[in-house]
Amino acid sequence: MKKAFITGINGQDGSYLSEYLLSLGYEVYGIIRRNSISENQQSRFSEEVRLKLNIFYGDLLDQSSLEKLLNDIKPDEIYNLAAQSHVRVSYDIPQFTVQTNALGVLNILEAYRKACPQAKFYQASSSEMFGNSVDLDGFQRETTPFSPVSPYGCSKVFGFNIVKNYRNAFKLHACNGILFNHESPRRGSNFVTTKVVKTAVEIKCGLTNKLVLGNMDSYRDWGHSKDYVRAMHKIINHFEPDDFVVSTMETHSVREMVNYVFTKLDLDVEKYLSQDAKFMRPEELKYLKGDSTKIRSVLNWKPEYSFESLLDDMIQHWQKTLIK
Ligand code: GDD
Repeated sequence: MKKAFITGINGQDGSYLSEYLLSLGYEVYGIIRRNSISENQQSRFSEEVRLKLNIFYGDLLDQSSLEKLLNDIKPDEIYNLAAQSHVRVSYDIPQFTVQTNALGVLNILEAYRKACPQAKFYQASSSEMFGNSVDLDGFQRETTPFSPVSPYGCSKVFGFNIVKNYRNAFKLHACNGILFNHESPRRGSNFVTTKVVKTAVEIKCGLTNKLVLGNMDSYRDWGHSKDYVRAMHKIINHFEPDDFVVSTMETHSVREMVNYVFTKLDLDVEKYLSQDAKFMRPEELKYLKGDSTKIRSVLNWKPEYSFESLLDDMIQHWQKTLIK
């Protein structure tokens, strides 16, 4: 039985990845940070899944806990998904963001190198690393230069580079997935897709009458987290450690996304939508569209969800949750 160790196991991706690996017969281990309301910690897991997981307290900032766990477990695969993952919030807590997303990667790499260097390692790198850098054909790909525009993006560039450095310097099987935005019913409600879908369903139920957003003219390449965790598993299991872009190859503006959701719910968006500068970023990443040709051809991955079926899945989830 293969063993996987996941940091950020209780997040959106960690929860889908755990379920996927359990379905493949893995033993799944992971760490969560101590929280004063422990009831919320595993809310993304059903009781049935929770009983199959081996979850410990740990933290990317506490290298001794990482080393001890990796020594005890001796995993075959390590997925580093833990992060302060909110781009705008990275301006409120820049130092915590950089400590976790940059030094945290170094901490887990050191623990991995010392405790179980035979294991394979996956780093959750991000399309936010590209910033406003775009190739002439309108895509970002593995060769596009990074030009990050947020503390979050800068921290992820360090993580990406240190993984490549450790791969080469210490001959580790360490790889990066450069994932474009990915959403799902489990996406936190301060990310734009869930905020829009949840609020629209609340408007439909008469629970609220306004949706307040920041920049509606930015473009994102939005995929489904369930598709993207399959990509992580393929990336880590490629015969050689390498870096891959994971994306749908389509881009849509926030405005288009809002219009799709409101039209689907038969609501007149103009009646409810307004803008507030507090949701804007000091420097905005305007446009993302990923070229995932490499992972599609080398690893035979492709997404099953489209932009529309992703949003439909999220709408259905919030209808089930909010309409009793
Ligand atoms: N969150 C949020 N809230 N975003 C808004 C809002 C709002 O009220 N109004 C407009 N937006 C715009 C943001 O300015 C951004 O251009 C876009 O919606 C998407 O924002 P998020 O959903 O917060 O995601 P993100 O693109 O900043 O970051 C996500 O994707 C990265 C990959 O590119 C996160 O998942 C990151 O962790 C991930 O690395």
